Amino acid sequence: MAGSTKQITILMGDGIGPEVVKQAIRVLKRIGEKYNHTFVFTDRLIGAAAIDATGDPLPDDTLEACKSADAVLLGAIGDPRFDNNPNATVRPEQGLLKLRKELGLYANIRPVKIFDHLRHLSVLKEHVLEGVDMVIYRELTGGIYFGEKEKTATSASDLCIYHDYEIERIAKLAFEEAMRRKKTLCLIDKANVLESSRLWRTVVRAMCADYPEVEVSYLFIDNAAMQMIINPAQFDVIVTSNMFGDIISDEASVLGGSLGMLPSSSVGSEVRLYEPVHGSYPQAAGKDIANPLATILSVEMMLRDFGMTEEADDLMNAVAQCVENQQLTQDLEKVNPLSCSQVGMQVADIILKRKMTNYGVII
Ligand code: IPM
Ligand code: MG
Repeated sequence: MAGSTKQITILMGDGIGPEVVKQAIRVLKRIGEKYNHTFVFTDRLIGAAAIDATGDPLPDDTLEACKSADAVLLGAIGDPRFDNNPNATVRPEQGLLKLRKELGLYANIRPVKIFDHLRHLSVLKEHVLEGVDMVIYRELTGGIYFGEKEKTATSASDLCIYHDYEIERIAKLAFEEAMRRKKTLCLIDKANVLESSRLWRTVVRAMCADYPEVEVSYLFIDNAAMQMIINPAQFDVIVTSNMFGDIISDEASVLGGSLGMLPSSSVGSEVRLYEPVHGSYPQAAGKDIANPLATILSVEMMLRDFGMTEEADDLMNAVAQCVENQQLTQDLEKVNPLSCSQVGMQVADIILKRKMTNYGVII
């Protein structure tokens, strides 16, 4: 793709967020130099970092900077000071939820691929991981996360409400993805118990007529959680609600050896948001030991969405090579781990060393 300029709003967030995002920026800059693109970065506060500075987990100027960007790159949100205080009325996570809602990011896409060289590090037996390659479409702006909340001295409730259009628009994306992949789609819900899940089934079933080639299956979340462990290769495209998607994607993410490898993109409006699936990992904050690859792979998704296919392939190859060389952080390499910044530098170096030809990138 000919040289272009992209405005990227950077939300480093909390915990290890700043460390992993810095490495992703390093890699993005290297891609920019190599392919003659200009990436303009604007830093803004979110989460606990924003509460400390302004009292607000999503200050107005953060939201404005996100709305006017070509893409948003986020690190992580969360701080134990708030996790351990159930009475806190202002919470870091509120910043992220409001941002998703305000940007209209109703679909969170979480691809789960397993690098061959990491298979032996999985908690599962290697043969179970044969052929695992799935993508989870998690609804992101509705359901129990956003329903009305009530609290009295002795009770509390969170409403799980879904409207048909909210289900339809994410299911449409998932069906389209299924058409590009193996033409199978699995809806995960709890339709034997929940009215809202029965609506998901009704809406998805009605949409089958528009996608006659797609074979749709239905699984209850409890069963799906078990199937994810005993036979994860059966899944290809999954579509599910906000809460079930949150849980099942964390489960799926460790199949490949570490939660530190899973990227995501959130889509729905013009501006998209890219973030690793992992959290803020406060125990590791400031130690330069966190795995930056989930954030770097989130940048890969960003490049692909920008139409920068060759650039995305180049980045992906560099990550694969890093993995192959066992140039990894301590979550994946116990004997000779690299630091977070060393992994970032390594990926950037590999990108620099790969030459360009008229036919694409060669080693
Ligand atoms: C995620 C996170 C968030 C969520 C938190 C930080 C609010 O767990 O993106 O998966 O629950 O959506
Ligand atoms: Mg989560």
